Amino acid sequence: MLVLALMNAGGGGAGCGRADRSGASSAAPARLGFGRAATTQEIRAWDVDVMPDGTGLPPGSGTASQGADVYRRKCAACHGRTGVEGPFDRLVGREPRQGFPFGRDPRFVKTVGNYWPYATTLYDYLNRAMPLAAPGSLTPDEVYGLVAFLLWRNEIITDTAVMNAQTLPRVVMPARDRFVVDNRRGGPEIR
Ligand code: HEC
Repeated sequence: MLVLALMNAGGGGAGCGRADRSGASSAAPARLGFGRAATTQEIRAWDVDVMPDGTGLPPGSGTASQGADVYRRKCAACHGRTGVEGPFDRLVGREPRQGFPFGRDPRFVKTVGNYWPYATTLYDYLNRAMPLAAPGSLTPDEVYGLVAFLLWRNEIITDTAVMNAQTLPRVVMPARDRFVVDNRRGGPEIR
């Protein structure tokens, strides 16, 4: 979807035709003169989907100590030295260990440790979206290391556990059973 949006901005795609047929914007030019086509490298960085079951995880590996080094350099400025301090989203914290009061009790902040349902999709998110100013810039080893670091800081794995395409899908997150897989097929039929 991201790629399609860029192409529309770059030179008119399906969206322009639809606008023309409505009559409302028939005077709109065929090209708006801004944007550009996504480069092959940009598409490659975005075109990685890691599913909850681990499908799509690339080769590579990392441990918490390797991730700690990357975290210090590329993440700590925004998320705090230990993942707690901010100024942006808090990533570390297991409280409350009982119940799931988010939305009802503003004392509890959602973190990777108390709210994230799959370790695999943490890989997907970091790879796709972080660091905020340079998404897609991390190597697979860096992402595996960062995932290991955040799981270790959240007391979910040990500091020596190696995270890779085989081990990551076997990590069970504390909030795993708080979510259902979205199995809707276009309507309200979710079970
Ligand atoms: C320039 C500031 C900045 C940097 C650097 C940065 N982040 Fe973020 N991060 C953010 C912001 C802002 C959000 C919230 C984004 C949103 O809600 O869409 C976020 C969200 C996250 C989340 C999701 C939190 C949640 O519970 O939903 C994770 C995980 C995360 N960042 C990890 C990292 C890691 C790992 C790095 C280093 C590779 C990193 N971030 C670097 C600003 C930053």
